[in-house]
Amino acid sequence: MLEINLSSFANLSIGLLAIAVGALFWALQPPSNIREVPSANMLKFYWYVLTKKSRTDIHQDIFAPAFAKSKYKAIRFLLFARWIVIFSDASVAKKMFLDTTTFKKFDVTKYMKGTLNAQLLGDSLVFKNGQEWRSHRQVVNPAFHRSWPTDVFGNVAKEMIGVLTQMPKGPVKVDGVLHRATLDALGRIAFEYDFGALRDEKNESYELYKKVLAVLQSPIRIVFPMFEKLPYPHKAQNFRNVSQFNKSIDDVVERKLRQGIERKEAGSQLTMEEKANSDLLTLMVEAKVNKGGEATEKEFHDNIVLFYLAGHETTANALAFIMMELARAPEIQQLAREEAIKILGDEPKDIMPTFEQAKSLKYIDQIIKESQRKNPIVNIIVRDLSKPVEVNGLVLEPGVFPGLYVYGIHHNEQYYDEPDSFNPKRFDDESEDNRKRVPFSWIPFGGGSRQCLGMNFSIIEQRVFLSMILRKFTLELPKDSPYKNAIPSTTINIVAPRDLAINFIPRY
Ligand code: HEM
Repeated sequence: MLEINLSSFANLSIGLLAIAVGALFWALQPPSNIREVPSANMLKFYWYVLTKKSRTDIHQDIFAPAFAKSKYKAIRFLLFARWIVIFSDASVAKKMFLDTTTFKKFDVTKYMKGTLNAQLLGDSLVFKNGQEWRSHRQVVNPAFHRSWPTDVFGNVAKEMIGVLTQMPKGPVKVDGVLHRATLDALGRIAFEYDFGALRDEKNESYELYKKVLAVLQSPIRIVFPMFEKLPYPHKAQNFRNVSQFNKSIDDVVERKLRQGIERKEAGSQLTMEEKANSDLLTLMVEAKVNKGGEATEKEFHDNIVLFYLAGHETTANALAFIMMELARAPEIQQLAREEAIKILGDEPKDIMPTFEQAKSLKYIDQIIKESQRKNPIVNIIVRDLSKPVEVNGLVLEPGVFPGLYVYGIHHNEQYYDEPDSFNPKRFDDESEDNRKRVPFSWIPFGGGSRQCLGMNFSIIEQRVFLSMILRKFTLELPKDSPYKNAIPSTTINIVAPRDLAINFIPRY
C-alpha cells in the first residue's frame, strides 16, 4: 500500500515538475517575430556579472559576437522575465527618441504604490508620458536653461583639492571623493542644501542620504517593488530614514514656495542677476507661481530627489573615467592643462573659472565628449511600446521592450574610426570625423525631447572641476595599475570604473 502511495506520489511530483518546466520553457520562449534575432548568451552574461568582469569583456565576449550574427543590428535577451531587444544602430536611436508616443517611458509607478520608492520619487517627471510629462517640464525647464553659477562648482572643486592635498602620499581611490564632491555641488545648486560630504564624510546628513540611496537603488525593490509590502528586517528603520529625509526636503520646498508666493503678491520678480545665482528649486517655484505651471509640493519634492538620483553618481563616474583617460594619456593631459592655464593663468593658487571662461574651455569639452563616447555611463536605454512597430524589418509588439545599446553605437566602426582609441580631436568642429558623424551616433545623454535635463549642468560642472584639478595636479596611474591596459568597470546600467586609483602629484 505504502509502495503504491509512494510511487503515485513520485509520479505526481514528476508530472507537476514536467508541467512546471514546460510552463517555464513556454513562458521564456521569445515571441515568434523576434525568434530570428540572435540571443545574447545569458548564462555567460550572469556569470560575468557575478565574477565582476568588466563592461568591455561583456561587449567583446557576449554582445559583439551576437550582433555580428544579426541582420537586424539587434540582439535579444531576457531580463526579469521580459524580452528586451537592443539595437546598435543610430537610425534606430533617431526613431526611438523622436517618436515618444510609440516608444514611451516604462511607467513603474503603477507597481510602486505604497512603497518607499513611491514616497521618494513616484511623482517625478522621469516616469511620466504625454501631457503629464509636458506639464512637469514646463515647470522644470526654465531652471535648467540658464547660465550656471560656476562659483558653486568652483568652491566644491576647491574643497576637493583641499581633501586630495591632505591625503597621505600615494594612490587615491577616486570614486569616494568624486561622489562626495558631486553630491555637495548638486545639493547646493538644487536647493541650497549643504550635505557637507567633502568636509566630513561621517556627518549625519550624508549618512542619511546614503541609507536612502541604498533603498532607492536596491535591486530587489527595482525588480520587485512589492517587496516593500513584505515584513523584512530593519523595515521600520528604513521607513523612519525615508520620512526624515523627506522632511528635510519638504521643509525647504515649503519655504521656497512661500517666498515665491510672497514675491508674486508683492508684484516683484527675481532680477536677471538673482536668477543666474538661484538654485533650481527657486527657479522651478518662480516658473510655477508666475506662469501658472502646474505642480504640487510632492512633485517638487520628487523631482528634487530625481535630480540627486540622476545627477550625482553619473557626473562622478563621468569625471572618474576622464581622470582615467588623462592618466593613461599624459600628452592629452598636458594639452588640457595648457588650455586651462591659458584661460585661468598659472599663478600657484586655485582659480575658479567664470561661466564665460568655463564655456571657452574647448579642448577640455572635447575630452568630456570623447570620454562619454568611449565610456558611456548609461549603457542601455530601454523603452516600452504603446503599439506594434516595425524597426529594421522586425515587427515588435507591446510586451517586448526595445532598447538602444549605447556602448555598441559608440563603438561602431561605421560611426567612429578606431572606436576603442581615446581621441578628443574627433569632436573638433573642423575634424573629418566630426563632419562625417551621423545624427544620434553620440547619445550618452539620450536624445530627442527626453534628452537628459542635466546635460549642460553636468558638462559645465565637469569643465570647472577638470580645469581646476589639472592646474593643481599631474595625474598618474600607479605602476601596477590594472588600468594601464584594460578598463575594469562595473557592468550594471550606471557604469563606473571599479576601484580606480590615481596618483595626484601637486604642481603648486
Ligand atoms: C554625466 C552625467 C549624466 C549622464 C550620463 C546622464 C544620462 C542621462 C540619460 C541617458 C538620460 C535619458 C534616459 C532615457 O532616455 O531613458 C537622462 C535623463 C535625465 N537626466 Fe541625466 N545624466 C547625467 C546628469 C544629469 C544631471 C546632473 C541631472 C540633474 C541635475 C540629470 C537629470 C536627468 C533627468 C531629470 C532626466 C529625465 C528627463 C526626462 O525624462 O524628461 N542628469 N540622463
